[in-house]
Amino acid sequence: MRQRNVKNLQERLAALAAYRVSEPEKIKGKWNTLFANDNPIFVEIGCGKGKFINAQAALNPAYNFIGIEGQENVILRALEKSGEAGMTNVLYISKFVNDITEIFAEGEISGIYLNFSDPWPKERHARRRLTHVARLNSYFKVLKDNCTIEIKTDNEDLFAFTLEQIEEGGFNVIQMTRDLHASELAAKEITTEYEDKFSQQGKNINYVKIRA
Ligand SMILES: C[S@@+](CC[C@H](N)C(=O)[O-])C[C@H]1O[C@@H](n2cnc3c(N)ncnc32)[C@H](O)[C@@H]1O
Repeated sequence: MRQRNVKNLQERLAALAAYRVSEPEKIKGKWNTLFANDNPIFVEIGCGKGKFINAQAALNPAYNFIGIEGQENVILRALEKSGEAGMTNVLYISKFVNDITEIFAEGEISGIYLNFSDPWPKERHARRRLTHVARLNSYFKVLKDNCTIEIKTDNEDLFAFTLEQIEEGGFNVIQMTRDLHASELAAKEITTEYEDKFSQQGKNINYVKIRA
């Protein structure tokens, strides 16, 4: 997701500092204290410009949400959406996260979303894909028992790889469709920026929900 020439990037980020957690490793095991409640916490890795996470947070005020996004000029848009809406149940981690267990304690999280993750098409980059089995295993370490990971992608190769990794990890598929918007799940679906773009082009959206 590219966003070039963002004017006054650092000043605009600084104005929204209340939504950004600058040293997330130090908050490991204590995220509920930042939200000042014990509500369940849901995480989106690679939240982009934040359409999905802000809509989830607005619809679910009894839950907390954390958006993780490595590009500052992209996450700015997500922060601005939260700031404009005065959200109190969303926080952001502005970095590329490789080991989620450095940031969250065992069983601290109630759900993880991976929406339109970068496909990393070269085989030698397979371990960078967010759905690699090693990463799926680490996500389940920070998830509470019986909680799920939901994955959406337009990319057929990434989806095929993801299904292989799910099988390799021995995880349970709860729901799966190759055409999310034509499925019975469509009605309650909250879309992302990428999802809107690809579905407007007529592209099918792949979806899978898994449990350990
Ligand atoms: C293709 S975009 C999709 C954005 C959004 N989820 C959507 O569907 O519109 C993927 C985003 O994930 C971010 N990203 C990729 N790997 C990441 C990581 N390990 N930690 C944080 N962000 C990551 C990228 O910077 C990029 O903005």
